[in-house]
Amino acid sequence: MLSNDIQEILVSADQIQHRVKELGEAISRDYQDKEPILVSILKGAVFFLSDLARAISIHISLDFMAISSYGDSQKTSGVVRILKDLDEIITGREVLIVEDIIDTGLTLRYLLNNLEARKPASLKICTLLDKPFRRIVKLPIAYQGFEIPDKFVVGYGLDYKQRYRNLPFIGVLKPELLEDR
Ligand code: IMP
Ligand code: MG
Repeated sequence: MLSNDIQEILVSADQIQHRVKELGEAISRDYQDKEPILVSILKGAVFFLSDLARAISIHISLDFMAISSYGDSQKTSGVVRILKDLDEIITGREVLIVEDIIDTGLTLRYLLNNLEARKPASLKICTLLDKPFRRIVKLPIAYQGFEIPDKFVVGYGLDYKQRYRNLPFIGVLKPELLEDR
């Protein structure tokens, strides 16, 4: 069973659901009378997005980007490749980026600059997890689910080599399963 690979649960499924509801309510309040586009990064953030979207009580639309930081390991190079761009034109729109986790911040910094150039009416960040300890570039985070310590986590969308995304909680992998960290 895949949960046998987990050393410690950092955020339980209940804690996630409770916090996602709160975030959804805050977003509904802050964007009332507006119709934001929630922009999510494939694939990790779609689990969070699908729960968050259902906790939001105003009109929204969804759009997706797929990016890749070179390689398949846990380390971010900061060099990002866009594999799939947005379908929508975001000029003049309220854009909320929905991310699973911000670590060094390099991935999101790149994305933020890229989307900013398209002149949205506003551009904000909502991340489920914030790992501030290894942050290299400062980012304005409007909504944050949980701050977590500098540990490699999996579950609720987050993967290690494409596995563990389907765990319903956020957990720390047993260290013997991590190859290069
Ligand atoms: P950053 O560019 O260092 O902020 O890294 C962001 C990306 O690295 C995230 O979108 C994840 O794909 C990945 N990442 C960072 N930390 C973790 C982790 O603890 N578990 C799984 N993926 C992570
Ligand atoms: Mg990601």
